[in-house]
Amino acid sequence: MTENVHAEEPPDAVERPEAEDSIANDSPAQFVRWFREVAPYVHAFRGKTFVVAFGGELVQAGALNSLVQDLSLLSALGIRLVLVHGSRPQVNEQLRLKGIPQYFDRGLRVTDAAALECAKEAAGEILLDIEAAFSQGLPNTPMSGSRIRVLTGNFVTARPVGVIDGVDYRHTGQVRKIDVQALRAVVDSGSVVLMSPLGFSPTGEAFNLAMEELATRVAVVLRAEKLIYLTETPGVLDSDGSVDTELARVDAERLLQQKTLDEDTAYFLEHASRAVKQGVARAHLLPYSLDGSILLEIFTHDGVGTMVVEDTLEDLRQATMDDVGAILQLIEPLEQDGTLVPRGRHAIERDVEKFWVAEHDGIIYGCASLNIWREDRMAEMACLAVHPDWQGEGEGDKLLRHIEARARASGVRRLFVLTTRTSHWFIKRGFVPSSLADLPRDKQATYNRARNSLVFIKRL
Ligand SMILES: CC(C)(COP(=O)(O)OP(=O)(O)OC[C@H]1O[C@@H](n2cnc3c(N)ncnc32)[C@H](O)[C@@H]1OP(=O)(O)O)[C@@H](O)C(=O)NCCC(=O)NCCS
Repeated sequence: MTENVHAEEPPDAVERPEAEDSIANDSPAQFVRWFREVAPYVHAFRGKTFVVAFGGELVQAGALNSLVQDLSLLSALGIRLVLVHGSRPQVNEQLRLKGIPQYFDRGLRVTDAAALECAKEAAGEILLDIEAAFSQGLPNTPMSGSRIRVLTGNFVTARPVGVIDGVDYRHTGQVRKIDVQALRAVVDSGSVVLMSPLGFSPTGEAFNLAMEELATRVAVVLRAEKLIYLTETPGVLDSDGSVDTELARVDAERLLQQKTLDEDTAYFLEHASRAVKQGVARAHLLPYSLDGSILLEIFTHDGVGTMVVEDTLEDLRQATMDDVGAILQLIEPLEQDGTLVPRGRHAIERDVEKFWVAEHDGIIYGCASLNIWREDRMAEMACLAVHPDWQGEGEGDKLLRHIEARARASGVRRLFVLTTRTSHWFIKRGFVPSSLADLPRDKQATYNRARNSLVFIKRL
């Protein structure tokens, strides 16, 4: 078979973009490398459920079409999608145009009959806009050849917020129940579910809901892999103004308690943390102003927004002097066979506050240490060990993720390890081979040349 596959024409429905515009023409090698880098994410997310939520601001900003193009691609890659839209600015605008005054209390709209009518109108309009966007299929656009079915329905039962401190919120509601079976049936069929921030009570009344609450509840009942908020804010920023790409849930809650975040970011982060606490694997805050932010977040290693993850802390804690004996017991066989550098009791006692241990029912079955070079914004993870009886269950991974989260929280940008026999374990987890010269100076000075460990660095 010597058929020339390069000469193959695209299927009738698919017209290729103009040749001179194609990135594959500009840099074929880069295009292939990029496509291959994306492959593991495609495999990992096929069949998983993502809940994507965005406010009416995104629609107002004209970002709907490009978002829908990206969502269509996700759907074509086998990701199950539920979209939840908001409509706050559209409702405000309609009320303003009709000259109807607006009332808010505790940041919640008091939805009187007129505001409810505006909420229904705004939701209807946005639904139609989204459905129209999904129905595009012009040649030479990313939507060419896409056949995405979008379904809406009465999935949400609502109840009134009621009267709080004497304020009657009228038709402002809260989610009471979600018809998870019906939702699941739709997403399993490959259709995209589209939800407006409205719910209905058994008395037949409609209630105006907060989009953020609805999205969180939907993600929780569906046990979604991801809850993604497309927001006006870039995500959570660290002290030097760059986006914190990953936050452990406990750290997110600590940040919220400090009350230093702006109101919008805090509101989304609170919902993201709640979702993760209740079983959603990951929750993301992404800026919709960045074209393609959802693709960059999902298909690149670092992403572009803030991802909140549950750091399963139940079994992980900082070591104390009482743990030194157990740590020694755990690592001694590994020191003897040369896997770990011999440290000795004295060194561990001296550095005990740098150690983290995994403990279950009083038994210490894992440990790792974190040593930080603040000026270099670097840290070393050392002495990583999991007891052989517990290996292969993801405990090593958990320890690594925890050390990464601690490092990140201390402003560390790059985490390094020195290893002789575990290089592939680290490579699989995003570490890249590096050289001694990349390490902090005093670490270079104490490097044991006879041991000849390999250096690996991971960008956090
Ligand atoms: C490395 C170690 C901490 C991993 O702990 P763990 O709890 O088993 O890790 P996980 O369950 O998250 O990962 C298990 C996977 O890692 C693989 N793995 C274990 N040791 C490995 C090694 N030396 N090289 C490559 N892969 C390894 C396992 O085969 C398993 O692969 P699979 O998921 O494809 O089945 C543990 O094997 C250990 O304590 N090793 C001895 C100490 C050591 O090497 N520490 C690092 C010093 S730099």
